[in-house]
Amino acid sequence: MPDKKVFIFDTTLRDGEQVPGCKLNTNEKIEVALKLEELGVDIIEAGFPISSPGDFHSVEEISKMVKETTICGLSRAVQKDIEVAAQALKHAARPRIHTGIGTSDYHIRSKFNSTREEILARGVQAVKWAKNFVDDVEFYAEDAGRTENDYLATVIEKVIEAGATVVNIPDTTGYCLPHQYGEKIAYLVNHVKNIDKAVISCHCHNDLGLATANSIAGVIAGARQIECTVNGLGERAGNTSMEECVMILKQHKHLGFFTEIRTPLLNPISRQVSDTMRMPVQPNKAIVGSNAFSHSSGIHQDGFLKNSLTYEIISPEDVGADGSKIVLTARSGRSALAFRFQKIGYDFTRNDIDVLYEKFLKVADTKKEVIESDLHDMANSYRLNAALA
Ligand code: KIV
Ligand code: ZN
Repeated sequence: MPDKKVFIFDTTLRDGEQVPGCKLNTNEKIEVALKLEELGVDIIEAGFPISSPGDFHSVEEISKMVKETTICGLSRAVQKDIEVAAQALKHAARPRIHTGIGTSDYHIRSKFNSTREEILARGVQAVKWAKNFVDDVEFYAEDAGRTENDYLATVIEKVIEAGATVVNIPDTTGYCLPHQYGEKIAYLVNHVKNIDKAVISCHCHNDLGLATANSIAGVIAGARQIECTVNGLGERAGNTSMEECVMILKQHKHLGFFTEIRTPLLNPISRQVSDTMRMPVQPNKAIVGSNAFSHSSGIHQDGFLKNSLTYEIISPEDVGADGSKIVLTARSGRSALAFRFQKIGYDFTRNDIDVLYEKFLKVADTKKEVIESDLHDMANSYRLNAALA
């Protein structure tokens, strides 16, 4: 395994689909899964098979249709869950069972009314059950973000000993700061003696808007898998956004990491997921928002038109976006106005633009955005007046 490859584990169809109103039927899930495979994700978490017959069916059908990508099914550390997950995955070319248990004291005491020793034993047992069905077993230590590092290291060492090939360190509540999450991963790298036998995975939630930053901190500290969703969909404030992580690793080449994602497909899949899940993307969302490549203030537009690198660090084609946009508002300048006139076929001189700009500002003050038909109206009345003068 190349040391600097970061595996992309997509959980849009499991953690993402848990969002109220985002439920998909099996056909919709298959369509998204096939696109995720084309995009180049390494693992698709297709669902939680024991949770409902519908989810079982979706995992089973996706397992039949997807040929290259690993298909993963979620389970609790419960024998029946694991058996059902294995059954749903039986047609998968590359099946993975994702099993685990809460390891923070909140989970151990309040959720399970249990002890650290008992939870450790249940986690180890779950991995052993899963190993009866598949080689590729991922263990999650739910709420690892708030689990004491020493205990977490013991759990991780024992589940790797039991056969876990991937160890997932979820910041389930989105509580950690990036340096804390990075330190947690570094702690595991330095204190778990068999850590080289497994891939460490980041699974971060976005309750404080830190999911992407935490995942990247985790990778820098030694993790090599990021669990994420398209458009950052997920429980509450969402999961780590796939497009953000992939582009951070791509743009910061000096870090040396890479993924297999075909980045020009990022915007098309964002639109597909948004449409199928009926969940609009916020306009200012990084990489895939409708304003991600729009420039509207005069200072930015002038700089961008002289050299796009002045105000754009990513080229829209690289992420499959429609292209950079020069939007005309009351904050726009003369160069943007001249550029937009030129784009629709008017070659005005500097003097023309000076006159037109005054008219433009009057119109712009009455509207949110000056559009192409406004420009035609302005140009026509300007030419008429010039002809009559
Ligand atoms: O956020 C979380 O802890 C999870 C686990 C079930 C992996 O989604
Ligand atoms: Zn989660």
